[in-house]
Formats: sequence, structure tokens, C-alpha cells
Amino acid sequence: MKIERGCTAYVSGAGSGIGRGIALAAAARGASVAVCDIRAEAAEAVAEEVRGLGAQALAMALDVSDAAAVQAAAARIEEALGPVSLVCNNAGVAMHGVPLHEIELPDWDWVIGVNVMGVVHGIRAFVPRMLARGGPAHVVNTASIGGFQVNPDFLTGAYSMTKYAVVALSEGLEQELSGSGIGVSVLAPAAVATGIHLSGRARPERLGGATERAANHFVGDLIHDGAAPEEIGEQVVRAVEEGSFYIFTHPETRKWIEARHRRIEGGFDAAERMQPPARAAE
Ligand SMILES: NC(=O)c1ccc[n+]([C@@H]2O[C@H](COP(=O)([O-])OP(=O)(O)OC[C@H]3O[C@@H](n4cnc5c(N)ncnc54)[C@H](O)[C@@H]3O)[C@@H](O)[C@H]2O)c1
Repeated sequence: MKIERGCTAYVSGAGSGIGRGIALAAAARGASVAVCDIRAEAAEAVAEEVRGLGAQALAMALDVSDAAAVQAAAARIEEALGPVSLVCNNAGVAMHGVPLHEIELPDWDWVIGVNVMGVVHGIRAFVPRMLARGGPAHVVNTASIGGFQVNPDFLTGAYSMTKYAVVALSEGLEQELSGSGIGVSVLAPAAVATGIHLSGRARPERLGGATERAANHFVGDLIHDGAAPEEIGEQVVRAVEEGSFYIFTHPETRKWIEARHRRIEGGFDAAERMQPPARAAE
């Protein structure tokens, strides 16, 4: 789908990092952008940058883990900016550095609520509207390279669990929307220099409110020299225009996924060896 003047984009988590990068890349092509973030001031600041590029912007305080709020946002955005044809379900929070058995239940609600249900809510709010109008339109869900493997060094089981879910949701959505004129992509970056190590600042009030998550601080060091979010935004927009499903941003991470797949195939090799003779002959 071509992104140009006349298109409207919804970008969640657009007050910082990758979401801001996507918002600016879409605006640079003339698209109007609904800059949505749970942090209202951050959304307003990025909306100003969008306007600075000569595009229309609507800044909106939005918690994507709140289903009703996302539904209401969809209506308000379309009223203000016109039909949304690019949906970027991008908001996400880190949950690194704590062993799975020590993560408190409210933090499970938080990481699943934002990273998984935020995507579900975006799909439920926007896809019916897009289907009713027909394409061209496109949905981009932000997963992570952690949606394809669990990094053994950084205690990322909970975060990766949510990102595997985003990959599966995206694969399913692509299958279901095939032939509708609505494309789907899943974004799977590795290190990008953003504010994700400060995720605690965006914990919703009903889950305890803003907090310092000391366990996440090493993530800041990990991503410090990562890719520039503006470059990732540009890559996303190009992938939408080319209709690419998987958006990998770090070619060097390919070997991690290949290693995981070899391990899975080893499991099938073992299954073949363990088949009872009668079944093995079938
Ligand atoms: N930075 C990386 O290295 C990296 C790598 C892989 C994937 N990702 C993914 O990229 C996406 C964007 O993260 P980022 O790295 O740009 O981080 P970031 O913290 O810079 O940006 C995320 C934005 O989302 C907002 N947000 C948090 N909770 C929200 C909620 N409930 N509702 C709406 N907005 C909310 C935050 O306020 C913040 O502005 C996330 O889904 C993240 O998991 C990041």
C-alpha cells in the first residue's frame, strides 16, 4: 500500500522510540497521523514534530490495554482525520531481568495487557472498519526478535511469551485477511535505541501506576548502541509499501532463529527414532 497524503495512520506507543519513528516516516510521506501514547505529553510532543513535517496530527492519551478506550479512540481518530488505512499496534513494555517465578501477578497483567491485548484491541477496533470500506489498508504489529527465540542471557521469558503471541496473531490475521486488500506485517527488531528500559514510567494506574523497574536498567545499556528508531520507522513504511510480511531489522540475528529451528528439528529427529516399529512403517 502506498503511504501518501490522504492516508491516515494510527500509531500506538508513538510518544517515543519506534512508534515515534513510524509516525515521522509516515508523516514524511504526507500521511496524517494519530499519535497515541499513554503518556499524553509525549504524544503531544511527537504530534508537533509530525506537524513540523507538514502533515496533520492528532495527539491522544491512550492506554492500549483498555479495550473500550481503543474503540473510542478509533471513532475519534476517524472523525478528526478520516478513515484509518495504516494501523500500527506498536505500544509495548519490557519485562526483562526477573525470573518467571518471581514476576508479580499485576506485572503479568501489565505485560500481557499491553503487549498482547493492546494488539488484539487494535485489531478489534480498526479491522472491522477497514473491512467495511475495503482496502487498500495495512496492519503492522510490533513484535520483536524475541518473538522468535527466547534470549538465554537476559531473563526475557515473559516478554518473549507476549511477542510470540504477537507473531501468531499476525500470522493468523494475514491468513484471514488474504484477498481483502488489507495487508499485514509483523515487525521484529533486535536492539533499537529507545526508552524501553524506562517502561515502568508508563505502567497504568490500575496496575499500580508509574514505577522504577530497576530490573530493566541493564536493557538501557544493551540498546544504547542499537539502531536509530527513525531508521526502523523508515524501514516499516518501506515494508508496508512493498507488502512484506516479516520485517526483520537486524540481519545478524538470523543465526539465532536458525539455531532455534535446528533444535526444533532435532526434536522431530528424536520423535522419528522413538516411533514404535508399526507407526514408523506407515
Ligand atoms: N527497543 C528495542 O530494542 C525493541 C526491540 C524489539 C521490539 N521492541 C518493541 O518495540 C515497541 C516500541 O518500543 P520502544 O522500544 O520504542 O520503547 P519506548 O518505551 O521508547 O516506546 C514505547 C512507548 O509506548 C508507550 N506505552 C507504554 N505502555 C502503553 C500503553 N499501555 N498504552 C499506550 N502506550 C503505551 C510508552 O509511553 C512509550 O512512549 C514495543 O512493542 C517493544 O516491545 C523494541
